[in-house]
Amino acid sequence: MPSAAPHDRLPLAFGGDYNPEQWPQEVWQEDVRLMREAGVTMVSLGIFAWSRIEPRPGTYDWEWLDQVIGMLHEAGIAVDLATPTVVPPAWFYRAHPEALPVTREGVRLAFGSRGAICHSDPDYRAAAATITTRLAERYGSHPAVVLWHVHNEYGAPVLTCYCDTCAAAFRVWLRERYGSTDKLNDAWGAAFWGQLYGDWDEITPPRATPTVVNPAQQLDYQRFADAAARANFTAERDILHRLSPGVPVTTNFMVAPSQCQGIDYWAWGREVDLVTNDHYLITDGRRTHVNLALAADLTRSVAGGGPWLLLEQSTSGVNWQPHNPAKAPGQMARNSLGHMARGSEGAMFFQWRQSRHGAEKFHSAMLPHGGTGTRVWREVADLGRRVAGLADLRGTRTRGDVAMVWSWESWWAQDLEWRPSQDLDARERLDAFYEALYDRHLTVDFVAPSALSSVDPERHPLLVVPQLYSAPAGVAADLERYVSRGGTLLVSFFSGIVDEHDAVHTGPYPGPLRDVLGLTVEEFDPLLPGETVTVRTADGGTYTADLWSEYVVPGDDCQTVAAFADGRTAGHPALTRHPLGEGTAWYLATRLTGADLAAVVDLALADAGITPADLPRDVELVVREGESGVFRFAVNHTETEVKVLLPDGSRAAVPAGGVEVFRDRR
Ligand code: GLA
Ligand code: ZN
Repeated sequence: MPSAAPHDRLPLAFGGDYNPEQWPQEVWQEDVRLMREAGVTMVSLGIFAWSRIEPRPGTYDWEWLDQVIGMLHEAGIAVDLATPTVVPPAWFYRAHPEALPVTREGVRLAFGSRGAICHSDPDYRAAAATITTRLAERYGSHPAVVLWHVHNEYGAPVLTCYCDTCAAAFRVWLRERYGSTDKLNDAWGAAFWGQLYGDWDEITPPRATPTVVNPAQQLDYQRFADAAARANFTAERDILHRLSPGVPVTTNFMVAPSQCQGIDYWAWGREVDLVTNDHYLITDGRRTHVNLALAADLTRSVAGGGPWLLLEQSTSGVNWQPHNPAKAPGQMARNSLGHMARGSEGAMFFQWRQSRHGAEKFHSAMLPHGGTGTRVWREVADLGRRVAGLADLRGTRTRGDVAMVWSWESWWAQDLEWRPSQDLDARERLDAFYEALYDRHLTVDFVAPSALSSVDPERHPLLVVPQLYSAPAGVAADLERYVSRGGTLLVSFFSGIVDEHDAVHTGPYPGPLRDVLGLTVEEFDPLLPGETVTVRTADGGTYTADLWSEYVVPGDDCQTVAAFADGRTAGHPALTRHPLGEGTAWYLATRLTGADLAAVVDLALADAGITPADLPRDVELVVREGESGVFRFAVNHTETEVKVLLPDGSRAAVPAGGVEVFRDRR
C-alpha cells in the first residue's frame, strides 16, 4: 500500500528532468545559477544514470551525484530523485542477455536505446532492487530529496515481452487466477477452435500465430504484463518507503494520448503516493489544447480528484513525431497553467538543458541550444515567476462539472481483431465526446466502471459513456441507481457488449445496459469507409452519421428522438431517450462528430439542467477551490481579447493567447 506520506515538503513545482551526467562538471555551476534565474524549484534527477552511478558491477561512483545534489540543495532547489531502472548498464545485459524483451515474433530486442526490459526476469528484478536500495541508503534522508521518481514511463516504449520466462510467469499468474485448467477453459471459451488445455504447461503467451489468437488469452496476457510491471514498481516503492520514510514515491504516467495503452492507470493510481503525468502535444491536425485538457482531467481522476503533478511536457517542439512544430509565443504558458487549472501542483518539463548528443538533441528544453538569448528562455523565466505567484494554489481541488466513463481494460478488449468494423475506436469516441463537453466549457471527472456506484447525480448531473464495449455485469445496477435518482445518462453505441473475458453478455445487446436504456439492439450494420447515413429528428433537423448503424428495438417507454432516414437501417431509431425514475437515459446508435455530436450532447445537458457558460470557443474557465480560496483560471486560446464573467457580476479581460487567474474576494 502507498504510504500516507504528506506531500508537504514538495514545493509548487517548476523545473524539469536534469541530466548532469551528460555534461562536464563546469556546466553544473551554470546550470544551478540559471535554474535560480528561471525560478526552478525542483528537478527530476538521475533517471537514466545507472551506468554512471554503477560503472562496473558492484562499483559505485557517488561523488558526482553527491556534488550535484549538494549544489542543488544549497541553491534551494528540491530533488525528485529517480531510480534509474529503466536503463540497466551494458555490463548487465552482457551478463544477462535474457533480460532483454522478446517480441511476439520471437525477436529478442537489443541494448542501445532504453527501456529494453523483460519485467519477469529475475536478474533484472534483483539488480533493480539492489540499485534502488543503494540509492535509498545514500540519499533517503537527504533534505533535498522530496520525491522519489521510480523508473520512467512504465509501458513505453515496450511493456509486453513474450519470452520463456514470461511464459512461465504467465502460467503462475493464471493458476492463481483460475485454480484449475477447467476454469480457465471456461473463462477463455477454449472449446472454440479446439483450444482446450489439460495442463498448465501447454499454455503459451499470445505469440505470433497463423491467425487470430483467442481474445480472452490476449486480454489475460495484457493484464499479466501490466501486473508484472506494476509488481516491479511496487517492489521499488516498498524499498523506498522502508529506507526513506516520509518521502512520497511516484512514477511518471502518460495517461493520454496513447503511447502507454498497456497500462491500466486506474490500478496504478492506487499504488503511487502522488500521481504524476507526462504530456506532449500531438500534432495530428486536431486542437492540441483539447487533448491537453483531457489528459489533465484524466490524470486528476486517476489521482482520485486530488492534486497531482505534471512531471514532463515540452517548452517548444518535440523530436519524435514526423513533423515537430515549435510552440507559438505564449503557448507554453497556456499549456502549463492549463494543467495547473486542472489540478497539477506545478509545471515540469523534459528537460532542463537541451542535449548535444543522443536521440533527443532536437527536442526543446528549458535552456535551449541557443542559450539565454532566446524566446524560449525568456518565456521559461516568465513562467517561473508566474508559477511562484500561485503558491497558495497548493492543495486546492479542481471542480468537475460532468462525469465520463473510461476503461483501459475495455479499450484493450475493443482493440483486438475481428470486430464488426475495424474502424471502431474507443479512444476516438472518448476524444469526440470530451471535445463536445470542452466546447461547452465543462470540466470532466472521469470514472472507472468499477467506481460507478460513487457517481452522485447531484454532483455530476450528466454521465457520459462514450464507448464501453467491455462492461462488467455490475455496471447495470450502478447506472440504474444513478438515473433513477435523477441523473442524465448518455450512452454511445457498442457499449455493454462483452464481459471481462470478451464473452458476449447473454441475451440481446446491449447486455447489462438493456434495462437502463429501455431498448435492445437486434443487429449491427457497420457502414463502409466513406459511407454516410442521414439521421432525422422529430422536428425535421438532420445529422450526418458514419461508421455505424444498427437495428434498435425501443421498449414501450423509450422515446425515439431521431431515426435513420436512409441507408439499410432507415426507419429505425438512431437516438433514444428513456425516462427512468427521476432521471433519463439517452442512447446514440451511430457515430456523429462535430456540430452534430454537440447537438446531441446539448439535448442531454438540457435534461441534466446544465447551462454552459457563455464564452467564446477555445476559452477555458476552470475552477480550483480549497481552504486558500477560489481560483478561476481563464485560458484564452484565441487570437483576440475576451471578457469573462466573474461571480461578482464584473467582466474581466483575458488577453489574446493569455491566461488570467482570478481569485474570489472573501
Ligand atoms: C518521454 C520521456 C522523456 C523524453 C520525452 C521526450 O516522456 O519520459 O525521457 O524522452 O518523452 O518528449
Ligand atoms: Zn520476458
